[in-house]
This record gives sequence, structure tokens and C-alpha cells, in this order.
Amino acid sequence: MEAKISIVNLCKRYEDNEKEKGLFFSKNINPDRVFDGKEGYVLRNINLQIKEGEFHVFLGASGCGKTTLLNIIAGLLPKTGGEVRMDGKEINGMSPERGLVFQNAESVLFPWLTVKQNVAYALKPKKLKKEELEKRTTEAIALVGLTGHERKYPEVLSGGMRQRLQIARSFASDPEVLIMDEPFGALDAQTRMVLQDELVGIWKKTKKTILFVTHDLSEAVLLGQKISILSAAPDASIVSYEAVPFSYPRNSEDSDFVQYTAMLHRKLNAAILAHQNRPEPQSTQTAG
Ligand SMILES: Nc1ncnc2c1ncn2[C@@H]1O[C@H](COP(=O)(O)OP(=O)(O)O)[C@@H](O)[C@H]1O
Ligand SMILES: [Mg+2]
Repeated sequence: MEAKISIVNLCKRYEDNEKEKGLFFSKNINPDRVFDGKEGYVLRNINLQIKEGEFHVFLGASGCGKTTLLNIIAGLLPKTGGEVRMDGKEINGMSPERGLVFQNAESVLFPWLTVKQNVAYALKPKKLKKEELEKRTTEAIALVGLTGHERKYPEVLSGGMRQRLQIARSFASDPEVLIMDEPFGALDAQTRMVLQDELVGIWKKTKKTILFVTHDLSEAVLLGQKISILSAAPDASIVSYEAVPFSYPRNSEDSDFVQYTAMLHRKLNAAILAHQNRPEPQSTQTAG
């Protein structure tokens, strides 16, 4: 079967105009880590095939290029070299086929719209009939457990509820691929656990392809069918690819889970160390 998402020799270097823009979705630009060197690649030669319906987790330390990678797949950010395809078609721009969920709901929810209106807004481009709009909105709100909160404004919602709303809004337009950038990163541990469980439930129910970024090893093992581990920028690439050997639902307290996570931790450290100590990369052919 052809891959849903296919990434071949992907490279990314931020150009001057992008640096100036300080793209709003890359919040934590560290001025010391803007690579102005000779090559200046954040990502170099990323290769990956993701199957339809797969729950794929990207794991990597803060600043390694996870958001950069997801934004390129989303079509929000141009790549420097290589290929990124969805269903065989080159990705160059945003598309309703790819839904996005960010870490900070505050920056993407409309504060002047209610829960229901926020979800309905996402469906606007579809120009649905009133009944269909009502049905889709109600379903998406129910999917994330926000039924009963339809008339509330984002301001009065908890952090977890805001993330639920963001997820509902993405699902409402029925994207084929859901791209989630540390969606639970800002939540307290308890809420986070609940939403992790719920996300697995939603994924099973909807059979969507999910691309999920985290810097939390335990979260990666809890959620991912496959895990791609990124080394650190500059020149970050995938240093390890794992097929997680557990069925769902998973329990992070199981001894198998704990052992596997510890093993992955060691492997991850070794791979990143080896990556850092590798010889200077040669200039990349695919990068333009
Ligand atoms: N618009 C930008 N211009 C220049 N450098 C950037 C920009 N956005 C991110 N970077 C740099 O690229 C690297 C990867 O950033 P990012 O993809 O946000 O990492 P992560 O999501 O893994 O924390 C960081 O070192 C960051 O400083
Ligand atoms: Mg990020």
C-alpha cells in the first residue's frame, strides 16, 4: 500500500525572510539557535513513510525541529529540499485534508465565539446546509466530551477543555490526517492523562492518521504505534524508528511499559550522542 505521508530527504533551513516573520506557530525561537552558519539546516535528510490510519509520534528534545517538521507537513512552511507527499501528491500549502492542533489553544480559538460557534466556524468553507452543520458540530463536540458546554466562551474553559475544543474543531471538518504539536504539553498531569486516553479512543473510533509531536518519552510510548526519534538541531534527522510492541489501552505503570521506556531512553541518548559526534555533513544534494 502506498504511504499516506511520504517524506524523502527533507531538509529545512530558515531563510532570512522567515526569520524576520518569526512565524507565530514557532513560538519559542531561541536567538542563539538561529542557524546562520554556512549551511544552517535545522532538519537534514528526513526520510519517513507513514501509513494510512497510523498513530505516528515524533519524539525529540525541545528545539530539535519538531514544530518545523510538522509545519512543513501541514503546508504552513516551505521546505528547503526533498519531498513531502500526501497520497502521492506534493504538499505545498495548507489543506482541509490536514487538521491542526497546537499546544496553545489560546492562540487559535476565537475568544468572541462560543464553543459551538468555534466548531461551526471551522466548517464554514464547506457551506453546509443548516441541519448538516448542526449535526457535524454536535457530533464533534460529543466526540471530545464537551456536550453541555456549547454556549460557553473559551475564556471560561479550563486548559483541558480548550484543548478538547481545539480537537473538536479539527475533527469537525473531517480531515484525513490530524497533525498535533505537543497538544497536551501545557496541561497538568491529571488532565493530560485523561486526554491521552481520550485521544486513543477518538483515534480508534475515527481511524484517522495522526501525527503527534511530543518531547515526553512516556507520552510517546503511551500513544504511538510508531515512534520516530529526532536528534538535535542543527541537522536533526530521524535517529531511530520504533514499532511499539504494546496493544491499547496501555498502562504506563506496567512493568513491560516501564522497561521498554527505559530501554528507549538509553537508545535515544546513545543515538543522539552518535549523531552529535558524527563527521561534518557533506553538502546535501537535494537541498536547493
Ligand atoms: N522562524 C524561524 N527562524 C529561524 N529559526 C527558527 C524559526 N523557527 C524555529 N527556528 C529554530 O529552529 C529550531 C527548531 O525549532 P522548532 O521546530 O520550533 O523546534 P521544536 O518544536 O522541536 O522545539 C530551533 O533552534 C529554533 O530556534
Ligand atoms: Mg515545538
